[in-house]
Amino acid sequence: MKLHNYRKQYSRDLLDETQVPVDPIVLFQQWFELALKQHAHEANAMVLSTVSENKPSARVVLLKEVSEGGFVFFTNYQSKKGIELDTNPFACLTFFWPEFERQIRIEGSAKRVSDEISDNYFNSRPEQSRISAIISPQSQVIASKAILENKKNEFVTKAENLKRPSFWGGYCLFPDAIEFWQGRPDRLHDRVKYVKNGGDWLIQRLAP
Ligand SMILES: Cc1cc2nc3c(=O)[nH]c(=O)nc-3n(C[C@H](O)[C@H](O)[C@H](O)COP(=O)(O)O)c2cc1C
Repeated sequence: MKLHNYRKQYSRDLLDETQVPVDPIVLFQQWFELALKQHAHEANAMVLSTVSENKPSARVVLLKEVSEGGFVFFTNYQSKKGIELDTNPFACLTFFWPEFERQIRIEGSAKRVSDEISDNYFNSRPEQSRISAIISPQSQVIASKAILENKKNEFVTKAENLKRPSFWGGYCLFPDAIEFWQGRPDRLHDRVKYVKNGGDWLIQRLAP
């Protein structure tokens, strides 16, 4: 397929910096709730970008909570992203909801959540997901898939308890800046950026 001619016109909605809420979390919740209600698929999927030694890397994770002004997700602390976040907490989250012609970019720094929050979430997961999180050394090279399957079978036969391992838990990303992007006709998109300014947020319009 010739990608040069593969393009879409956006016209579904508009975003006016004089009409938006003063708090970007309020606008985030409005967009997110609409996406959750009407998005066909995994509206809480977001790209998490991290940086290690000036080299960025990105992957999809799931947003599990917005609390105290931060965005919470769960992972293995010894994974590539976990090691990177513990070394350099500056990170970025990107949502894209094509049905709404919307993108949100969240920049800030991430901190591990409390053991209590991680325990509560871990214990709410289905048993099989908990077992997989316990037996999988996420992001490490393994010799074969069979190794994982054997580990899982062994774990199940031994009926080991399903306590959250200390290498698994949540991070909360606290934003310094949040940009909302609404697709508009002829590439004149609306972009509104909130930048943290002490206890308040500055609201800016960016060129598309
Ligand atoms: C839709 C989707 C949701 C995902 N959710 C998570 C998640 O919440 N936590 C997680 O650790 N990995 C999740 N993953 C897997 C990650 O994208 C990634 O493969 C894994 O975390 C290892 O990343 P790393 O090696 O960069 O640390 C998800 C992948 C997809 C496609």
